[in-house]
Amino acid sequence: MTSLLNQISPSATNQIRLDHMHVLATFHQYEPASSTRLKRGLADSVCLALEIHAQLEEEIFYPALALAMDSDMVRKSPVEHGEMRTLMARLRQMVASDPVFDETFFELMRLVLHHVADEETVLLPAAERLIPGQLQDLGARMARRRLQLAASRGGELASSLVRSFSARGVVAAATTVLSGSYLLARHSPLAPAWMRRGGPRAAR
Ligand SMILES: [Fe+2]
Ligand SMILES: [Fe+2]
Repeated sequence: MTSLLNQISPSATNQIRLDHMHVLATFHQYEPASSTRLKRGLADSVCLALEIHAQLEEEIFYPALALAMDSDMVRKSPVEHGEMRTLMARLRQMVASDPVFDETFFELMRLVLHHVADEETVLLPAAERLIPGQLQDLGARMARRRLQLAASRGGELASSLVRSFSARGVVAAATTVLSGSYLLARHSPLAPAWMRRGGPRAAR
């Protein structure tokens, strides 16, 4: 399993980009006029995916980058994750019919968009410039850890999928973000061209 993951895992930076793409696609399916059931499912899917993504970055990606780069942005990234966790905790405690639910969801979306923009324009290019030789190994470590985290939260994944079943993108997002199965993700219509084209080696 370990060597298979080493072979099929995209690099750390491409995994992070893929996670961002799927979370943003899920955000964009949320509409205030949707049913409370669908809104609950979308919010739960986003929260679960973000929690796992943030943990992977904090445990594996940021520490590796911090050794190569003295940057306020690297230091403030876990702080921004903390702000997201505060909003996600609020969302989890609310019912989706609460008038503040939409507002809280969109506040989380704004925070995530800002954070993702910083990572994609500064941190990921910096990692590809400063530690290119480590990115495949970091990606394999992230894939292994993702499987552990997803396994421990399988019940939550199942229930959010059932509630958001009508949203195709959510199924794709949750499948990708939580199962760690990038081979499955390659066949998703949301998958980026590099992934549909050719697998992990092409993704470097
Ligand atoms: Fe990220
Ligand atoms: Fe992040």
